[in-house]
Amino acid sequence: MSDVAPLFNQLSTQLARHSGDWQLMPFACRTLPWPELAAVLERLDEDQLDQLESNPQQALELLAPWRPELSALHAFTAPVLARAADYATPRWSNGIPGRKWAQIKDFAANITAEHAILEWCAGKGHLGRLLAMEQQQPVTSLEWDQDLCRQGETLANKLTLQHHFHCGDALAPEAAALFKPKQQAVALHACGELHLRFLRHAARAGTRALALSPCCYHLIEGNRYVPLSNAGRRHDLGLSRHDLRLPLQQQVTGGERVRRLRHLELTWRLAFDELQRELTGGRDYLPLPAFPKQLLSGDFADFVSWACDKKGLAVPASLHSEHWLAAADDRRLLVKQIELVRHCYRYPLELWLLLDRVLFLTEQGYRVRLGTFTDIHNTPRRYLIQAWRE
Ligand SMILES: C[S@@+](CC[C@H](N)C(=O)[O-])C[C@H]1O[C@@H](n2cnc3c(N)ncnc32)[C@H](O)[C@@H]1O
Repeated sequence: MSDVAPLFNQLSTQLARHSGDWQLMPFACRTLPWPELAAVLERLDEDQLDQLESNPQQALELLAPWRPELSALHAFTAPVLARAADYATPRWSNGIPGRKWAQIKDFAANITAEHAILEWCAGKGHLGRLLAMEQQQPVTSLEWDQDLCRQGETLANKLTLQHHFHCGDALAPEAAALFKPKQQAVALHACGELHLRFLRHAARAGTRALALSPCCYHLIEGNRYVPLSNAGRRHDLGLSRHDLRLPLQQQVTGGERVRRLRHLELTWRLAFDELQRELTGGRDYLPLPAFPKQLLSGDFADFVSWACDKKGLAVPASLHSEHWLAAADDRRLLVKQIELVRHCYRYPLELWLLLDRVLFLTEQGYRVRLGTFTDIHNTPRRYLIQAWRE
């Protein structure tokens, strides 16, 4: 990969300069944080906001007069890497959803292993199994869920593959010993801390070949992201877990049902926030944790009971649902206006995080390649970082 330092510096400068556009919590805002954007954002109705949300290019064009630097931050496009020749499903892949299977096949299409393979955070080891078949190299899959390990081991035995599971915790210190110099290490969709460890352990062991597709950047150990690379530490953006979720706020694989549920969830969360301010007399936004989607098939009163329970509040004796839901409508519009701006930084921030990993590996003496390994319709988490060293 050509020198990415200038691109990383440019991203760092612009993300820091415009941190007020994206390092904020839309739910906590009661007014639009950018008076200069009021005229353009407030004339959009909710349908127009939703439409712009699903067309990032149009959103960039709309904001260009006020944020001219944004389009330059979107100018870099990661190269398209190798894709599988076909997505035919062998008998053993029964039960793997189509999109997942396409991701596995596309990831594998980029691997030519000269050494034994280590699969990091393997699940049932579908990728490891395919690689064991295609690469004629022994595969060790690390996974901590015993049930998944057992299922993966059973399949490997049935197919008489050199594929074994190491059932253990990737975050335990002893996991470092799994990395060897003569090895191809792979990690498909390893979450934040898991893939940070993968990179650090591999670099320390001098592992020859790495392939990683990162996901869930926010699942880190501390509350703040500590950049991996020297360059990243020089341009530390002070990223919180909330900031690190920004690249994940992209819904490309959802249909109408997903959109409807998101609308309902947004409305209920905001309606509850209005209610809790009244109940507590507080002026601050009270974040609610993630919840199972089946809660959305009940009614708002059930949701309020659940939320009050989570926050240690007494459930109000009588609840005027209509009142709170109407109050949420105005705030939902405001949240969508703010998200329209904030989401313009989704790609630059993900690129910054990816380049932090790329620069770390470069600093460690690796030759590195960054690209997209699968179609966006299979998953929005489709970046692949590959690294080799002699
Ligand atoms: C997002 S899934 C990816 C699975 C597989 N690589 C794939 O793409 O289908 C992450 C996997 O990591 C495993 N995992 C999570 N934390 C772990 C840990 N601390 N040690 C080992 N495995 C872990 C989970 O059980 C899960 O199977």
